[in-house]
Amino acid sequence: MQKNKLTGMKEWKELKIHYNEIKKHNLRELFKHDKERSKRFSIYIEDFYFDYSKNLITSKTINLLLKLANSRQLKLETERMFNGEKINKTENRPALHIALRNMDKSAIFIDGKDITPEVFSVIEKMRDFSIKIRNGELKGFSNKKIKYIVNIGIGGSDLGPKMVVKALKYYSKRGIKLFFVSNVDANHISETLKEIEPEKTLFIIASKTFSTLETMTNANTAKNWILSHYKSKKSIPFHFIALSTNTKAAVDFGIDSKNIFEFWDWVAGRYSLTSSIGLSIMISIGFDNFIELLKGFHSMDNHFRNTPFEKNIPVIMALLGIWYNNFFKAETHAIIPYNQYLNKFPAFLQQLDMESNGKHVDKEGNEIEYQTGPIIWGEPGTNGQHAFFQLIHQGTKLIPSDFIGFIEPLNNLGDHHKKLMANLLAQTEALAFGKTREQLIKEGTSLELIPFKICKGNKPTNTILIKKLTPFSLGRLIAAYEHKIFVQGVIWNIFSFDQWGVELGKTLAKKIIPELDNSYNKPLKHDRSTNNLINLLKKGFSL
Ligand code: F6P
Repeated sequence: MQKNKLTGMKEWKELKIHYNEIKKHNLRELFKHDKERSKRFSIYIEDFYFDYSKNLITSKTINLLLKLANSRQLKLETERMFNGEKINKTENRPALHIALRNMDKSAIFIDGKDITPEVFSVIEKMRDFSIKIRNGELKGFSNKKIKYIVNIGIGGSDLGPKMVVKALKYYSKRGIKLFFVSNVDANHISETLKEIEPEKTLFIIASKTFSTLETMTNANTAKNWILSHYKSKKSIPFHFIALSTNTKAAVDFGIDSKNIFEFWDWVAGRYSLTSSIGLSIMISIGFDNFIELLKGFHSMDNHFRNTPFEKNIPVIMALLGIWYNNFFKAETHAIIPYNQYLNKFPAFLQQLDMESNGKHVDKEGNEIEYQTGPIIWGEPGTNGQHAFFQLIHQGTKLIPSDFIGFIEPLNNLGDHHKKLMANLLAQTEALAFGKTREQLIKEGTSLELIPFKICKGNKPTNTILIKKLTPFSLGRLIAAYEHKIFVQGVIWNIFSFDQWGVELGKTLAKKIIPELDNSYNKPLKHDRSTNNLINLLKKGFSL
């Protein structure tokens, strides 16, 4: 257990002093004086290239950050995770998402039991089921082929599979239509039900706990929809399956125990897309592609576990994040994938990162006095360029950003890809080097316009360049971010695998639900604002 106070550490203090030196530099001059910079500050693993040279760093910065990682015993903490120790202490569990894609099938023990055979038996079960759907063998209650799959889930039981299904649409089986319903807002399920036919629909109820308000409300609405069509309870097991750790609740719902795809409490929701929660992915892209996805994850797991920190992509990503978050006081981090298939990637990372590292006490329960998890946001390029990039270029806030691009296009149409990638490169170049007064004068810009046209540059970016968007490369990319988040949690000395903060809102919502009934006539005991808003919702503006 880390007991040293982070900000009191020698390594931290050294970084603080170094920050004051670095502030005086700019990327234009750093590149000019160091011809080897882009080579030195990049890591290449097979088809995955990570260029971090356009960051506000020198070799000294990296050395100091690496010293910090070592002093926080990162290696030891990583081994504790991989070895299945109960690092999610507040829930008394390991965090073993790496066991879900442990492709060399080595034994991983929890309380003396090897969990690997169980993991692979669920994968086999998913395989059989997904094949039956894809080849039309699986039929509904009236013996019609299943054509529509609706994944009902929220948070990790929605964002991960939805992001991957969209990201890998190129590899998907056409003819089967997948929908994702998450919001308790009736608009979501209502609009979905308008697109599908009961006799050809399979609902996947994806919920680790099988008790989440949104998911259970949507599941019950879907159940009523099926029942009102068939007028027979016998139809339920034909049209509903579950992905859950809570077998009993799924059976009580009416799901056939054969059709419950298990996973385990040692998988945090946001890290669960490689568990049975990924069944919709397997249905969409097929078993072999799903295995490729797992192999991609596994290859990054190995890279992270076995590579020295200075050549370790997740470690360097994490340290750069800490550099900006804690020393430059950057509040946010933008994720800009130059690929329309990855349009849900920023939203997925939002939960992964913010639910993991949005913590205000350390592992000993003490209030912490430094910043923890960043605000993650983003949109695909080039769309973002015409929306929020102005602020990144010329605003007053420092926004470190990750640019993600692919060398080979999936849809090779005319010169689209060349233009897309030229934009990625142009943006990172413009952000780093900007446009100076001298350049503008040379170009003949009128004196009045010069202040408005100056781009100071010095805006840090990482560029991740991958050969091609494939199941394998996507797995590798996601795992890089998972481990980046882990490393940051270790350095900040926080628990990255619990999420107690979301519980309060859930509890309060449960209390308010009955109070919104017109028949509820006990006095409201909230604050005045909430009481007033409850009354407005009940009675409208006639108050
Ligand atoms: O929002 C909190 C949370 O617990 C997430 O961590 C989780 O991914 C989501 O709710 C859904 O939970 P479940 O899969 O149990 O329905």
